[in-house]
This record gives sequence, C-alpha cells and structure tokens, in this order.
Amino acid sequence: MKQNIYDDPQFFAGYSSMRKTGGGLNEVLEQPAMVSLLPEVIHGTVLDLGCGDGGLCVRLLDLGANSVIGVDLSQNMIRAARERCAGRKDIQFHCLAIEDFQSPDGAFDLVVSSLAFHYIPNLEALFHNIQAWLKDGGMLVFSIEHPVATCSQGIHAGWYRDANNKKCHWQVDCYADEGERRSRWFVDGVIKYHRTVSSIVNHLVGAGFHIVRMLEPHATEKAEQEKPSLLEERRRPPFLLMKALKAKHGKTEPDFAPYR
Ligand SMILES: C[S@@+](CC[C@H](N)C(=O)[O-])C[C@H]1O[C@@H](n2cnc3c(N)ncnc32)[C@H](O)[C@@H]1O
Repeated sequence: MKQNIYDDPQFFAGYSSMRKTGGGLNEVLEQPAMVSLLPEVIHGTVLDLGCGDGGLCVRLLDLGANSVIGVDLSQNMIRAARERCAGRKDIQFHCLAIEDFQSPDGAFDLVVSSLAFHYIPNLEALFHNIQAWLKDGGMLVFSIEHPVATCSQGIHAGWYRDANNKKCHWQVDCYADEGERRSRWFVDGVIKYHRTVSSIVNHLVGAGFHIVRMLEPHATEKAEQEKPSLLEERRRPPFLLMKALKAKHGKTEPDFAPYR
C-alpha cells in the first residue's frame, strides 16, 4: 500500500499553508535550481513525476514543451492541477502512483520530478523505467531531499541546539543505513526513503544515464537579502538536484559488484 500523505486533510492543510505563505524552500531555493538545469527552450513531450498542483508543468509549456503529462498520487494535488490548467489541450494529468505509471518506450524527450523521489522505495527500478520511457539522448532532471537531510529523519531532530536553543550544527547519523524513515512533518508517521549520494549516482549510471550536472543549492542571493534567516540553508544542503542524459547506446558503465 503506497503512502498518500498529501490526501491526509491535516497534512494537506499544513503543506498548502506553507506553500501559500512562502514558508518552505520551494520558491526561494528548489525551483530556481530546478529551472537552471532545464534547457532554455524545451522541445517535445515532457513527463512530470509527482507533479503536485501542476506549477512546473505550466512552466514547462511556457518554455516551449509541445505537451506535458503530470502524474501524482494525490487527488487533492491532481484536482488543483486540473483547475490550474482548465481548458488546456497540451497538458494531461493522471492521478496514480509514479510506480504504477506505464508508457511506451521512447515516448518522452524530458522527464522531470520535483521533490517526489524521496517517497519512492525502489529508485533503482524507477530509473530503469525512466530510461526506457525517454528517447535516445532524452533528459532527466530531478530534485530530491538531500541524503544529509533524510538520513537522520525520525532518529534525531536535525539541528542540534544548545541550552539557549541556538542551532549549533546539523546532525548526520545512520547515513549508510538506507531505507525507510518515519518522521513528523505536519503529522506523525510521514514516510520517506533515505539513500546515500553514491547510491543515487550509481543507480543512475547503472540504468544507463550520463550525469551532466549536480546541484546542492542554497537560497538565491536576492531571497537571502530579503530574508537573512535563509543563510542557514548554507550550513547543510536541504536538496540534491541532478541532470542526466539517456546514453545513446544503453549502459555507460559495466556492472560492478556491490561494495560490502
Ligand atoms: C513535495 S510535493 C512536490 C509537488 C510538486 N512537484 C512541486 O514541486 O510543487 C511531493 C509530491 O509528490 C507526490 N507523491 C508522493 N509520493 C508519490 C507517489 N508514490 N506517486 C506519485 N506521486 C507521489 C505527492 O502527492 C506530492 O504532490
């Protein structure tokens, strides 16, 4: 049974309010980094996995995409996305799990995903699927919660604070123990999946991608000037972004025995 936390009323109310008030890091940090990895002009057909309310889908169309398919498990999100895009013929939304999405091989020029892959238990299998769905030379651009941020979730409180509640340092623990993390985010028991940076890289390479760029962004300088508390995001990376190309002839590396 896949977790669909964005359809939990308390979670959705908290998350929507955070996005409306700009209290999250999406607009000031993740989205500018994501857009910086996209081609200036997008051609062809795009797939957005975990599309949420469709904001990025519209941006992709504005950048020139011929058509966009958005996939999200949450009915709340898909309803908002359909409202946002009412009347548009160049965009389709599917309310289903990323893991259940099916497509003919070679259907997409670009696959994007913004902050959804840490909800996927088997990222390796997903990268293989995406590789098949892309045309030769097609591109994958995604952001994920940074492994430095996911490793201790549900184990430590993130920031270690002194007696005066000052944030002393970020706690990295259990880094090599990959798998499920349950923590409180608006509600108890939100499930995410932690994996190391090397696993993410090696799963991409193993699926036949050339990695062309990685980002561990902090807030934009403008945002930091307007809201100096954002300087804190330079102390540890909240997000990891990757841009990868489908290798023309499949695998880029031979199989390696797993390190034990
Ligand atoms: C942090 S939100 C990001 C939404 C959107 N990409 C954005 O940047 O505004 C994560 C999204 O992933 C979706 N999601 C989580 N697990 C999913 C799954 N297994 N399949 C499809 N969507 C999923 C959630 O419903 C939610 O809309």
